[in-house]
Amino acid sequence: MPSEKVDSVTTVGRRAFVDDSVLDIEWGRVFRPSWQLLGFAGEVREPGDYIVRTLGRDEVVVVRGEDGTVRALHNSCTHRGTRLCRASLGNTAHLRCSYHGWTFANDGRLAGVPALRSAYPPDFDRAAHDLPAARVVSRRGFLFATWDAEAPELEEYLGEIAWYLDALLDCGAGEWEVCGPPQRVRARGNWKIPTDNFAGDGYHMRTTHRIALDQGIYGDTLADGTRGRAGTDLVGVNIATAGGHSVRAGYVVEDGHSLDDRDPAAPQFPGYPPERWAELAAAQTPEQVRFTSHCEVAHGVVFPNTVFLSVAHDRAVGTDDDPLTRYLVVRSHVPIGARETECLYWTLVPTAMDAEWRRRSYRFQARTQSAGGILFEMDDFENFARIDAALARSAPGRAGPVDLTLGTGRTTAAPGFPGPGHAETGTFSEHNQRAFYRRWAELVGELP
Ligand code: FES
Ligand SMILES: [Fe+2]
Repeated sequence: MPSEKVDSVTTVGRRAFVDDSVLDIEWGRVFRPSWQLLGFAGEVREPGDYIVRTLGRDEVVVVRGEDGTVRALHNSCTHRGTRLCRASLGNTAHLRCSYHGWTFANDGRLAGVPALRSAYPPDFDRAAHDLPAARVVSRRGFLFATWDAEAPELEEYLGEIAWYLDALLDCGAGEWEVCGPPQRVRARGNWKIPTDNFAGDGYHMRTTHRIALDQGIYGDTLADGTRGRAGTDLVGVNIATAGGHSVRAGYVVEDGHSLDDRDPAAPQFPGYPPERWAELAAAQTPEQVRFTSHCEVAHGVVFPNTVFLSVAHDRAVGTDDDPLTRYLVVRSHVPIGARETECLYWTLVPTAMDAEWRRRSYRFQARTQSAGGILFEMDDFENFARIDAALARSAPGRAGPVDLTLGTGRTTAAPGFPGPGHAETGTFSEHNQRAFYRRWAELVGELP
């Protein structure tokens, strides 16, 4: 079993990424007791609005009832099991089965059974045939759900990661809205591969995303041939929690300076308009400002399969005079099988920003990190598919486990860091991936 240290797992056996029997174990031990993101309250605004999503291995209809409550109902008729809802979104008061016509109200109750009085036994228990419903909680519009009645409350489950999610959301000053339905794409490779990448992989940027750097997305070619914004350094901080959640934050500071040299009286929020910085700072606590100020990129994982990215880009993805603009994308990595993953992408924009800024933010996300993004997804998915292909064809025992030791003994503790969790300073580190797999290993236990 993993030790108490939050990032104690440094290797993972290869079959964990390709073997359907491992996924079967994960369904029960990793996904069932966890909270997963189904979507956003803004996708089901009105009574009857529904979206069809996946929770664990089950498909669910996420629907707002006439009473205003959002439920996640199992998308399978309780008569013979027919898939009830075939559209991916819509509005309906009832779900009617296409086989024999059983009808369920949008709160899951079995409302209509053809020939109920004449053909069913008099003691037929209608309530016992209501649709099973998962627990759903809307947290700042994020719809999290779990099938597990014994799972801790969402807030307890999130634990220390909630502080970081709130800091990123408060930095946009107030409410956020989701831009349309999510983009969706099926990618080759196990769900953990893109997820551990989001946990904290700054290491692949220079190799995998070289073309993005060459296009100037993070600045220009400097005199020494490296890429960046002249006169600045990027300092990485990796924060992980015992729950397997993590954040990696990259800070732009002046050359040779540290995080502690930032002036708390003059916070900077890259990607937001400088004339709004004072207002954004006022919407946060002083501790949140110490986390968000000078932060160019923050990405991470809500264990097991929800990931997020808040990042500022500039002209390389817009027009030459587009200013540095930030976007926030939230994703869910849903296993289709051990070797295939469906990725859902939601872009969120703060309602406090003007319409032009919000449009640009959505555009920048769509052009870079979306399913069709020109700068990141193509590169990443190609690597993930190559990992899958090589792991799947290797004979058992041919090669050792995958390695996660980057940064071990090379990073420094970040004792003054304002947020909770275990924080380390180190631009190249697999601290967060180790914490992700530590939690995973703790739940999965010994593989047979
Ligand atoms: S299977 Fe749904 S009504 Fe018979
Ligand atoms: Fe990447």
